[in-house]
Amino acid sequence: MAILVTGGAGYIGSHTVVELLNADQQVIIVDNLSNANVNALERIETITGKACVFYQGSVLNKALLHKIFTDHPIESVIHFAGLKAVGESVIKPLQYYETNVTGTIILCQVMAEHNVKQLVFSSSATVYGIPEGLPIREDFSTGATNPYGQSKLMVEQLLRDLQVADNQWNIAVLRYFNPVGAHQSGLIGEDPADIPNNLMPFICQVAVGNIPELKIFGNDYLTPDGTGIRDYIHVVDLAQGHLQALQKLSEQPGIVTYNLGTGRGYSVIEIIKAFELVSGKQIPYRFAPRRDGDLAAYFADASLAYEELDWQPLHTLESMVESSWLWQSKNPNGYND
Ligand SMILES: NC(=O)c1ccc[n+]([C@@H]2O[C@H](COP(=O)([O-])OP(=O)(O)OC[C@H]3O[C@@H](n4cnc5c(N)ncnc54)[C@H](O)[C@@H]3O)[C@@H](O)[C@H]2O)c1
Repeated sequence: MAILVTGGAGYIGSHTVVELLNADQQVIIVDNLSNANVNALERIETITGKACVFYQGSVLNKALLHKIFTDHPIESVIHFAGLKAVGESVIKPLQYYETNVTGTIILCQVMAEHNVKQLVFSSSATVYGIPEGLPIREDFSTGATNPYGQSKLMVEQLLRDLQVADNQWNIAVLRYFNPVGAHQSGLIGEDPADIPNNLMPFICQVAVGNIPELKIFGNDYLTPDGTGIRDYIHVVDLAQGHLQALQKLSEQPGIVTYNLGTGRGYSVIEIIKAFELVSGKQIPYRFAPRRDGDLAAYFADASLAYEELDWQPLHTLESMVESSWLWQSKNPNGYND
């Protein structure tokens, strides 16, 4: 039996495919490469010594999905494919809703037609909007402040409705906090096509000299050093969470929702200091005004995933920073090197 990984050539997808192949699973990837590089697939093969089947195409292409499900004995799906830049989603809402919401509807329709009803979905901590408190628990109220977050909430809701309508569906909704880091080989990692939206790839780009300095948005938050605190999680730990979620679905049917984070927050300044220590590079930065919608601190209560998935993040901050730097220093221009 095989696992279909949509968006499997992307950042989190590629790391999850490595873990799946290492666990002797057969993997089929569908990815339109809109935010990924085909070279990631060769690198996955180098790391694992195993190949996966790759289809270049969109989850919006129903005929292609039918072909994939017809040609392979797919048992479950991990659905990463989607657009993820919050700022861009405000400018291009229709594209975000089409890819993230319509893409999931089409995928689920084809899955149902082929009687494949086991799904792990990539959601995001952004669905908590302005959280009720800290640390953030799965039973907190949700509310999005941008089309990206709305699209994740819509998909979560439609998956719950789907499971109510047909209880043969087994679904894990995973709400990621801030994935960082890279595989220990330095062969795969985050390779933003444009100017990075997230802190760690931005720091990496400054460190290799592609960007002159880092702008820190806000140094007057009510945090120990005034900069924002986030819950960073190593991408390999995150990837492992997907394997545990699949295991859980095979043991306990229904729909489940888990935070995947470490439960520990680090400030922007703490990340910069850790990076400088590991890389020996100085990261020039300057402070800029807070950005609209940013919060002082955002971190998970991840105890439910610890208890119910038998999963725990194993990587430290040092290892998150070290692996990010290894990837970036070996590949200053990402997969184009
Ligand atoms: N990285 C984060 O900070 C973060 C946080 C929370 C949630 N997520 C979610 O996790 C998932 C994976 O994120 P990532 O960081 O690996 O992003 P990514 O952009 O690296 O991966 C997404 C992949 O989907 C592919 N894709 C996009 N549209 C597609 C389509 N229509 N059909 C097929 N493939 C398509 C892209 O080419 C890319 O390879 C996304 O759904 C994202 O919203 C990411």
